[in-house]
Amino acid sequence: MDGNNTANSATSEISKILPRNVQFDFNIDIKKYWYDDNALMTAWMCALSSMFPPGEKEFIRSIRAFEKQIQDPALQQDIKGFIGQEGFHQLNHKRVNRYLEEKTGLRVTALEQQVSDNIGDMLAAGDFSDAQLLASTVCLEHITAIMGEWMLRNKEIADPAPAIFRELILWHGVEELEHKSVAFDVYMQCVGDRKLLRRVMVATTFGFCIGLLRMQLQLLWWERKLPSLRDLWGTLKFNFGKHGVIRHVFKPYFTFFKKDFHPDNTDESALIAEWARNYPELASATK
Ligand SMILES: [Fe+2]
Ligand SMILES: [Fe+2]
Repeated sequence: MDGNNTANSATSEISKILPRNVQFDFNIDIKKYWYDDNALMTAWMCALSSMFPPGEKEFIRSIRAFEKQIQDPALQQDIKGFIGQEGFHQLNHKRVNRYLEEKTGLRVTALEQQVSDNIGDMLAAGDFSDAQLLASTVCLEHITAIMGEWMLRNKEIADPAPAIFRELILWHGVEELEHKSVAFDVYMQCVGDRKLLRRVMVATTFGFCIGLLRMQLQLLWWERKLPSLRDLWGTLKFNFGKHGVIRHVFKPYFTFFKKDFHPDNTDESALIAEWARNYPELASATK
């Protein structure tokens, strides 16, 4: 595939990326360490969720910086779908973060504010070009897409989470797969530098993993909570076990560094269809 390929948009004039205005029931009580009674894993999930509202706001901003350069009407439509989906992700993670804090006392919104401040400071410093910031969005879109694919293929991973969080992450995972090629196509049409993309991927992955770990530990530090051996064992299994995230995403992550990488080189439509059958109410909440 060459640099100008827009595999998703070339086949259709009408975007298949439909934002869903999903609704959750926030009147359900949950335990403090709501993921499998595991403080470490609960903190990891909370830290991940706290990244999304400010992170996805930045994804949208970085794409909007190039939107006017896009002439392809199908990709223009896909950008609208992307912005709609990421907009609802932001909104719902914000709501769920508030809900988690209210029910558990874990300071999820304080973490969210930290991420927001860090991104604000980064943009204000002006150290990165629009092309670098868009490249970072492309990289994080690959990471969220492969995590979404892992989650949908190993749905039992979400089982220990309360219903709201389970529905939230599976819905989010589906939409990450639906719009996985948009940032990449915008980047290839407007910037097209694959070497830059690979360099940014290394830095972005490092920043994402370290940031997530730091926030996970910060949340536990605020609680003065020392993880138990059971918590550590559960975390090892979550990462490296049969259905573990690191074990699963290792291979798809590295496809990003191939010369002909395109997000649409893999097809997850069967997983999306299966989710729609399992969650018809969420699936039909399209605008
Ligand atoms: Fe998202
Ligand atoms: Fe996304």
